[in-house]
Amino acid sequence: MINRVFCLLGLAASAAASAALLQRDYNTTNTTMAYSFKDVPITADLQYIPCFDNFTCTQLEVPLDYDDLDAGTTNIAFVKYDAAKQPALGDIIFNPGGPGDSGVGGMIQLLPQLVELIGDSHNIVGMDPRGVNHSGPLLDCFDGQPWLRDYYYSQLYNGVDPRSNVSLSTYYELSGTFGTWCTQHLNKAAKYVNTPATARDLLQYAEVLAQSQNKPREEAKVNYYGASYGTVLGTTFASLYPDRVGKFLIDAVVDGDDYYRGNWSQNLLQADAAVESFFKYCVEAGSVCVFKANSSTAEELKQRFDAMLLNVEEDPIPVTDPLYVQVPTVLAHIDVRVLLTVAVYNPPVFFPILAAIAAQLENRDGLRAAAIASKGTGPISECNYMALGYEAILPREVIACNDNNKSFDDREEALFELFKEQKNLSTYLGDTWLVGIVPQCRNLNTTPPGTQLFPGFKKVNTSTPILFADNTIDPVTSSYDLMSSYFEGSRILLQEAVGHGLMVTSSNCTSSYVQQYFKTGELPPKDTVCNTNFNAFPPNGTLTKRGLMPGHPVARRSIDLW
Ligand SMILES: *[C@@H]1O[C@H](CO)[C@@H](O)[C@H](O)[C@H]1NC(C)=O
Ligand SMILES: *[C@@H]1O[C@H](CO)[C@@H](O)[C@H](O)[C@H]1NC(C)=O
Ligand SMILES: *[C@@H]1O[C@H](CO)[C@@H](O)[C@H](O)[C@H]1NC(C)=O
Ligand SMILES: *[C@@H]1O[C@H](CO)[C@@H](O)[C@H](O)[C@H]1NC(C)=O
Ligand SMILES: *[C@@H]1O[C@H](CO)[C@@H](O)[C@H](O)[C@H]1NC(C)=O
Ligand SMILES: *[C@@H]1O[C@H](CO)[C@@H](O)[C@H](O)[C@H]1NC(C)=O
Ligand SMILES: *[C@@H]1O[C@H](CO)[C@@H](O)[C@H](O)[C@H]1NC(C)=O
Ligand SMILES: *[C@@H]1O[C@H](CO)[C@@H](O)[C@H](O)[C@H]1NC(C)=O
Ligand SMILES: *[C@@H]1O[C@H](CO)[C@@H](O)[C@H](O)[C@H]1NC(C)=O
Ligand SMILES: *[C@@H]1O[C@H](CO)[C@@H](O)[C@H](O)[C@H]1NC(C)=O
Ligand SMILES: *[C@@H]1O[C@H](CO)[C@@H](O)[C@H](O)[C@H]1NC(C)=O
Ligand SMILES: *[C@@H]1O[C@H](CO)[C@@H](O)[C@H](O)[C@H]1NC(C)=O
Repeated sequence: MINRVFCLLGLAASAAASAALLQRDYNTTNTTMAYSFKDVPITADLQYIPCFDNFTCTQLEVPLDYDDLDAGTTNIAFVKYDAAKQPALGDIIFNPGGPGDSGVGGMIQLLPQLVELIGDSHNIVGMDPRGVNHSGPLLDCFDGQPWLRDYYYSQLYNGVDPRSNVSLSTYYELSGTFGTWCTQHLNKAAKYVNTPATARDLLQYAEVLAQSQNKPREEAKVNYYGASYGTVLGTTFASLYPDRVGKFLIDAVVDGDDYYRGNWSQNLLQADAAVESFFKYCVEAGSVCVFKANSSTAEELKQRFDAMLLNVEEDPIPVTDPLYVQVPTVLAHIDVRVLLTVAVYNPPVFFPILAAIAAQLENRDGLRAAAIASKGTGPISECNYMALGYEAILPREVIACNDNNKSFDDREEALFELFKEQKNLSTYLGDTWLVGIVPQCRNLNTTPPGTQLFPGFKKVNTSTPILFADNTIDPVTSSYDLMSSYFEGSRILLQEAVGHGLMVTSSNCTSSYVQQYFKTGELPPKDTVCNTNFNAFPPNGTLTKRGLMPGHPVARRSIDLW
């Protein structure tokens, strides 16, 4: 009876976020206001119709392969928020990351922060990349049975402990089953789901928009805001179509070379710095940080935290309280590290949660940590964990695997070596990172056509200089120097904050430079570092959800169960 409390909390919280859109999926007759993309016609030109109360929606029919029209077409979903000031200076297309994250869902959710950051001179457009959410082609390896998908992913992603050779070897084989299975079950069009093709879709949008305004298609330029993986998409576009670059904000910058090599080995460069900021901010926050207890320096806190982690590693914590778990379970160090990985993406949302969990774990109380890590909950339960994030995994894998053209080393020894390097890069998060993508690609045989393989970055001049941006500490993407070096005239804007993406906090300084750039193309002065309102431990009761959320089910669960 009582163990349903957490289910209900979880359900209530996630339902609140999506009910407005999901329930109405069945109303396929209302043409006044679409609440589902089923009601949005698929057209070769832009025909925006009112949708989701505050927006307009369209679906563009595009070729699966622009160089082979016989391959057929698919639909790309867009949602638009019209700038307060009309006529707007243009449309800015937003991509929130992943790969595999929905630009439609992301734009609707993040709208207030998007407007705060990029202003209202332009319309803001969320686009679902190929294979993602509402855009075709449909990707599914489990024949319309999402509970099987979620059960499989929970096996694949949870509990791998790279410190154990047995666990890692088992994982190596298990990850290979992904490609073997999906190659048999995936839509044949899955090979067209890749970043260069999506970049071409961006251009298509700009051209069709120009055409609708009686402007020449071939002069149309794309305006764009991409964060995280969105920086891969943006820099790929800018590299392939440098003379079609309008205003480009590239935020939370991924090392594109590393991404296309398929290693994902350059993400954690600042991960430990991000974790260590937890100790510093915790001390500064005083009693608001429940992990502070009687420590008075960041160094003391780090020692206590490290001791706690070591203790859990050597001696995992059993959890059997039915208030928190549906079946008995054991909480291991890798589960704590996953929570830590999620926390550093967005400190103002997760550091208070992390502090409470750490304080409990220090007393070998793993109740809340277990509930959040979804240890001890059934994958097919009345809690319906299907809604908790696994739906973005397949598009993420397909896009990342198609993009890397099998250029990674797929031997088991190479995987061991990559894990070792990651551990060396980040003592805290090195164990958790690679599970995300890399090993899953090796047996997936969905090779894109040659024209949809990215030839690599080289130095180019873009028609408008690009604005790169990041926080001073970004735990998973901080390669702005490298990527900026590929684009002549580009500039880097940093802001004082820890987390993934500019929207983790507000800053008048950042937003005024960004808005100036979108209005006029004027770049901030060199080496600008903006002050912000960043606060990793907001005063009690003022926890607000903003910024990018990591695409890990644990992230949603932490918020839902808090
Ligand atoms: C769906 O449409 C019906 C009329 O066809 C209407 O009565 C109902 O309120 C609509 N539901 C929503 C959620 O808009
Ligand atoms: C369609 O939705 C709008 C907005 O909710 C509503 O005002 C209108 O009555 C609906 N029309 C029909 C036919 O359901
Ligand atoms: C539409 O805007 C209103 C007022 O700002 C807001 O309360 C509502 O949540 C918005 N709806 C959606 C679907 O974003
Ligand atoms: C897909 O888009 C809808 C809006 O239509 C959004 O509510 C939902 O969260 C998105 N799904 C994902 C997986 O992002
Ligand atoms: C685990 O495997 C690595 C690489 O094969 C090896 O160097 C290491 O000694 C092994 N560790 C143990 C505890 O067997
Ligand atoms: C904030 O909340 C925590 C936990 O509820 C409590 O221990 C702490 O005393 C509170 N701090 C302040 C300043 O109210
Ligand atoms: C500080 O707190 C820890 C655990 O909460 C306790 O074991 C220790 O005795 C305390 N030290 C002091 C000086 O109060
Ligand atoms: C990336 O992978 C390739 C092939 O597996 C390897 O040769 C290279 O050293 C790796 N790079 C990094 C930075 O790990
Ligand atoms: C670990 O990192 C250091 C520098 O940070 C580097 O010199 C060393 O070669 C790395 N070791 C391994 C095994 O990658
Ligand atoms: C993709 O891989 C194939 C086979 O290894 C290779 O021939 C081709 O050059 C690669 N293409 C690109 C763009 O890297
Ligand atoms: C970019 O343009 C400048 C000025 O025309 C030129 O000097 C430079 O060589 C160009 N760079 C590239 C990579 O084409
Ligand atoms: C930031 O901008 C807002 C809105 O323009 C303004 O109300 C506020 O005073 C500004 N804050 C600072 C610190 O400049």
